[in-house]
Order: sequence, then C-alpha cells, then structure tokens
Amino acid sequence: MLGSQVLLCVPDGTLVCGTDLKEAPGVDAPGVDLADDDQVARLFEEHGPFSGVIHTAAYTAVDKAETEEALATRVNGEACAVLARACAKAQIPLVLVSTDFVFDGTQTRPYEPEDPVGPVSAYGRSKLAGERAALELHPAGARVVRTQWLYGPRGKHFAGTMLALARERDELRVVADQKGTPTSTLELAPALWAVLQDGEAGIYHAACEGEATWYEFAVATLELAGVEDVTVHPCTTAEYPTPARRPAYSVLDCSRLTELRGKSLAPWREALSTYLGTTTDQ
Ligand SMILES: NC(=O)c1ccc[n+]([C@@H]2O[C@H](COP(=O)([O-])OP(=O)(O)OC[C@H]3O[C@@H](n4cnc5c(N)ncnc54)[C@H](OP(=O)(O)O)[C@@H]3O)[C@@H](O)[C@H]2O)c1
Repeated sequence: MLGSQVLLCVPDGTLVCGTDLKEAPGVDAPGVDLADDDQVARLFEEHGPFSGVIHTAAYTAVDKAETEEALATRVNGEACAVLARACAKAQIPLVLVSTDFVFDGTQTRPYEPEDPVGPVSAYGRSKLAGERAALELHPAGARVVRTQWLYGPRGKHFAGTMLALARERDELRVVADQKGTPTSTLELAPALWAVLQDGEAGIYHAACEGEATWYEFAVATLELAGVEDVTVHPCTTAEYPTPARRPAYSVLDCSRLTELRGKSLAPWREALSTYLGTTTDQ
C-alpha cells in the first residue's frame, strides 16, 4: 500500500529503483527478500549506487503475527538490520516506516518520539526490534518514521473494508474506544521523501492532523463517500475481540516532522475526502 505510493511521488530529478519480494512478470522491479543480507548486497551492487533508501516493506498481518512472531520478527526486525548495515556501509540515509503499535496506549496526550515504548502485540514488538536495530547499526543515517491507521489508493485497509461491507449490510458495528488518526498514504508518501532528503537521524512521527476513533473513521468514510442507507453503531473493544491487543490511545505528536517540512499532514477528514475523490473503489 505505502511502497507503491512512494514510487508514485518521486521528487523531480530523482531516479528510483522499487523492489518487490518476488519479481513479477512485466514489472521492472527486482525481487529481493530484504531480510537476506546476500540478496540486499546484490541489489546494491547491481542497481546502485544509491543515495538513500526508503524502506516500506513489512509483515503487516497484525493478528496473524500473534502466532507467527518469529516470521514477523524476521521481516520487521531483521530486514531493518540488513538494510541498516548496507546503508551504513554505503554511507547513505535509511528511512524506515514504523508504527504507533510500539506504544502501549495508556497515555492521554499525543505520543512524542522520545516517549517510553511498550508494545502490547507481537507485531508491535517486531517493529520495535526493527527500529532499534536500525538506530543502533546506522546511528548517523537511520530515520524512523512512525505512522498509523493507513489507507490509500492501493492495498487493503479499513476505509476500503467499510465501503465493501456497506454494499452488503444495512448496519455495521465499529469499535469506538480506540483513538488514533487515520492517515492517507497520499499525505505520508511525500513526507517520507522529505525526511530522506532533508531530515536528520532519529525518530519522527507522521500522521494526519487531528484524532478519531475507528467508529468516527467509519462514519466519516461512509458520509464522505455519499453512502446514506447504512447505520454505523459504536461498540467496545471487549465486544469485538481480536487475537492481537491494540493500543487504546495512540495519537502521535508530529511536531518534529511539521518543523522539518514547514507544514503538517492534512487534517484527517480533508485527507479522507481527497482520497475518496481519487478512488473508484466505492
Ligand atoms: N497499514 C497500516 O495501517 C500501518 C500502520 C502503521 C505502520 N505501518 C507500516 O507502514 C509500512 C507500510 O505498510 P503497508 O500497509 O503499506 O504494508 P503492505 O501493504 O502489507 O505492504 C508490505 C509489503 O512488504 C512486502 N514484504 C513482506 N516481507 C518482505 C520481505 N522479506 N522482503 C521484501 N518485501 C517484503 C509484502 O510483500 P507480500 O505482499 O508479497 O507479502 C508487501 O508488498 C510498514 O512498515 C508497516 O509496518 C502500516
């Protein structure tokens, strides 16, 4: 979802090399397992020299990670270590995308980059392992960008799921006691380029402006998409149990990124409206 959007907003004058896990026929992107040192070394040799790397690949099946933590840790932890070693050797910056799930969600004010972490899920632990590896192995060049609640023109996401369900049902129940910020990949992707080109090593938070519950996100999605004949009911996390625990509150303080770019990401409702205007997936 995010990687393809990053490739669709390449700054003028920049040449890019996108990768995929497996080479797809007819697509000009080398297949690379980013958790494999040799494959990444070959990528750098055959397609480099690079002036920087934006790492958006990940194991993102949050619930499945509870029973596949070793695999999640290999993909989310080890791949960051592999890329950090390669980027340190090449002396180039590495931007890697992380998550609000590194926090436990007990705070009541927006999380700042230096606030204590405490993941409550296997996915969160695996992403934290990646952050730590990159910052340790490439302290001069690693830029961790934590984001949350992503949706966008490609891939599977909450807004798309709500629109699909609304075609099948008259009523939906959505969790109303978890708070974060829906963030469009259309907003986030250019910000990753800015962090690569102008940022310094360290941790950034990057989400749209404002805050919402999943319930409010669902209601806004249907309203802005013009769906009128579906009722959304709020429910609690306890009523909708999932294998992985999620932080109850994970709004991110994005001041550092705002300072870097001179502007924040768009307010979440505005970004959602823009996205719904560009997608045919309604
Ligand atoms: N989605 C969200 O709400 C959200 C929230 C916070 C943070 N993030 C973070 O944002 C980033 C982008 O997320 P996304 O939703 O765009 O993810 P996504 O759509 O699931 O894409 C992840 C991609 O990584 C690939 N991949 C998995 N293992 C790999 C490996 N070993 N080597 C190379 N590629 C591999 C996957 O390939 P296959 O499809 O072939 O497996 C997939 O194409 C991730 O770092 C994620 O943790 C996402």
